[in-house]
Amino acid sequence: MAYRHFIDLDSLSSETISHILSSALAMKTEFKELRHKAPKLCEGQVLASIFEKPSTRTRLSFDVAMRDLGGSCITLSSNDLQLGRGESIADTARVMSRYVDAIMLRTDAHQKLLDLAEFADVPVINGLTDHSHPCQIMADILTFVEKRGSIEGAKVAWIGDCNNVALSAVHAATKLGFSLYIAAPKEYGPTKAMEEAVKADQKAKKNSIHFVEKLDDAFVDADLIMTDTWVSMGDEDEEVRKKVFAPYQVNSEMMKLASKDALFMHCLPAYRGREVTAEVLDGPQSVVFDEAENRLHAQKAIVAWSLGAI
Ligand code: CP
Ligand code: NVA
Repeated sequence: MAYRHFIDLDSLSSETISHILSSALAMKTEFKELRHKAPKLCEGQVLASIFEKPSTRTRLSFDVAMRDLGGSCITLSSNDLQLGRGESIADTARVMSRYVDAIMLRTDAHQKLLDLAEFADVPVINGLTDHSHPCQIMADILTFVEKRGSIEGAKVAWIGDCNNVALSAVHAATKLGFSLYIAAPKEYGPTKAMEEAVKADQKAKKNSIHFVEKLDDAFVDADLIMTDTWVSMGDEDEEVRKKVFAPYQVNSEMMKLASKDALFMHCLPAYRGREVTAEVLDGPQSVVFDEAENRLHAQKAIVAWSLGAI
């Protein structure tokens, strides 16, 4: 049976992504003051969330999303499971599928998520891997759409590391018709997965992704500026990264190059004074806390879609 796994945006159709986004926006808008009164689209269903890395937003937002949808969530770390003592992902997937209706996994190696999806008899959701973070980008796009109407045709700048969040932004650009300008130091430039996504995009004659050498070229006239930590979970070269990324800080001077009403986004957690100044992060163009809230709304729609409720 083909399950509605939510693994990566590049394997979903533009229509499916747009459907999830519009459902999220409708649920949020319609039940703004009464979040918990939203339709119980997943009544009685259980999501298991497994965390092999730390999390604040993903952990809480999936749990609250399931409660709002009339279901419940069991949150686990791999050390709570026999997985932490060497039980295979395949056996874990087979067993968990007998108890729960969907599984969310945050882990390091993307292959673990793919293995989970292969052996599970329920839908599997990507809660971040070293490769990608599609739930985050869904929340980010939801935030842009909410504030600006549509993201189609917009200029989006990604500043800094070509990391997991950046790859999901690349996938989204190729599916939703916005231009993504990436300014990254050559030492931490496009990953193989990113190059492949760009090649496929060029082959389809979309040309959505642009790697720029001059930082200014990403900022100029951008409608949205995005960045992320210079040191992701699992990165071990912190001192080198701090030096290499120093010129890539998002600050007020650089924000002036962007469009007047440009928004600033960061998936959080943020490190003020490193990838972004406090002035920008806490300033009027920043929508980082709306973005964090939208993890909840986006994931409600993602879970409801995975479970076949929308
Ligand atoms: N942005 C994000 O995924 O946050 P957490 O690591 O807190 O879940
Ligand atoms: N790129 C960051 C995102 C955290 C939500 C990391 O993987 O640590």
